[in-house]
Amino acid sequence: MNKKWELTKEAYDRAYAPYSNFKVGALLVMKDGKFIPGCNVENASYGLTNCAERTALFSSIALGYHKDDIVELLIMSNSKVPAAPCGACRQVILELMPLDATVYMRNLEGVERSIKVIDLLPLSFTKDDLSDE
Ligand code: THU
Repeated sequence: MNKKWELTKEAYDRAYAPYSNFKVGALLVMKDGKFIPGCNVENASYGLTNCAERTALFSSIALGYHKDDIVELLIMSNSKVPAAPCGACRQVILELMPLDATVYMRNLEGVERSIKVIDLLPLSFTKDDLSDE
């Protein structure tokens, strides 16, 4: 495993998923060479769960980064077909990542697939829809 996936696996291992037992790790690769990890964090009030992808993206904002600072997003899960971001995460990814960036998904066996941010959410609702013009 290369360094990026090793860091994603470390985030995966830190997931707090006592209810679903489905761990997810995420890693944002930044243009300045830094990496921002995320993992899913569940709660006894199930709906409060935060997915790995949103944990990483919200951290990037808290650290002062903007969408143009992001190169790519890596996601690791242990499903047979590497899990893709959920609908809520797609909405957030679309707003906070460059449209031409790539999202890579992998499982623990190394099966990988990828998709461009622009293709994640067709006919999406964006801040342009909030304009009154
Ligand atoms: N999960 C993620 O972290 N990312 C996704 O895109 C899909 C789902 C988490 C949420 C929950 O903790 C567990 O996986 C099962 O849904």
